[in-house]
Amino acid sequence: MKGVILAGGLGTRLYPLTYATNKHLLPVYDKPMIFYPIATLVNSGITEILVVVSGPHAGHFIRVLKNGKELGVKHLEFAYQEKPDGGIADALSLSEDFADNGNIAVILGDNTTDMDLKSAVKSFQKGALLFIKKIDDPHQLKRFGVVVFDAKDPKKIAAIEEKPKIPKSNYVATGLYLYDAKVFDYIRSCKPSWRNELEISDVNNQYIKDVSLSWTELTGFWSDCGTFETLFQANKYWAKKEVGRV
Ligand code: TTP
Repeated sequence: MKGVILAGGLGTRLYPLTYATNKHLLPVYDKPMIFYPIATLVNSGITEILVVVSGPHAGHFIRVLKNGKELGVKHLEFAYQEKPDGGIADALSLSEDFADNGNIAVILGDNTTDMDLKSAVKSFQKGALLFIKKIDDPHQLKRFGVVVFDAKDPKKIAAIEEKPKIPKSNYVATGLYLYDAKVFDYIRSCKPSWRNELEISDVNNQYIKDVSLSWTELTGFWSDCGTFETLFQANKYWAKKEVGRV
């Protein structure tokens, strides 16, 4: 399986930090943020990686990632998202040629986790696999795509509601996904949302309609780093882990 890291976007919630460089190059303890999703892919055996970049600092990535060899990446490619805030699904659409009809593991560039994806990657065959996580803080919950479980079958996901006012569960879709090649057809049929983005939740809802979405609970630590609060939390966690305190 190949891997795709989505590192476009503008990172506006981290202004003024992201005036200076791209969000995904900001430090999380002793490494640039994007090293974490790259390590997650490499540790699961994925060494062919496409990084989708955009925005005013897109050129900064090459100086940091170079050809990826130092990070265990055998083949590193970049793609440039022309509309920097076109949405996650818009960024993902740029990986179609790279995916070459195969399955892909996708991680948002600001997501850090210590879950081992190896067995999920190994057993994945088709459809979509979501990694979901329980979030107890109701304020945090509303920032994400929230899982709606089927009333008749609580093991089944009936829908993903993007940033709902009243969340129907306390499980969210994290920024880690496994997709088959159908994902690109689904993206093509997406329309821009109220915030003028192509939403990944719309893509996932199409997999649900086709009864081809499965899920697994993400074990271990997971956090995005998209707000000052979560960036700080992630820094704290990885600093402690590095010195053997978690
Ligand atoms: P977001 O955090 O939703 O968007 P953002 O990074 O632009 O930040 P802000 O809302 O503060 O302006 O995006 C989550 C991840 O998805 C981000 O780390 C990179 C990726 N992404 C893209 O690759 N392209 C996009 O158009 C968007 C919106 C996000």
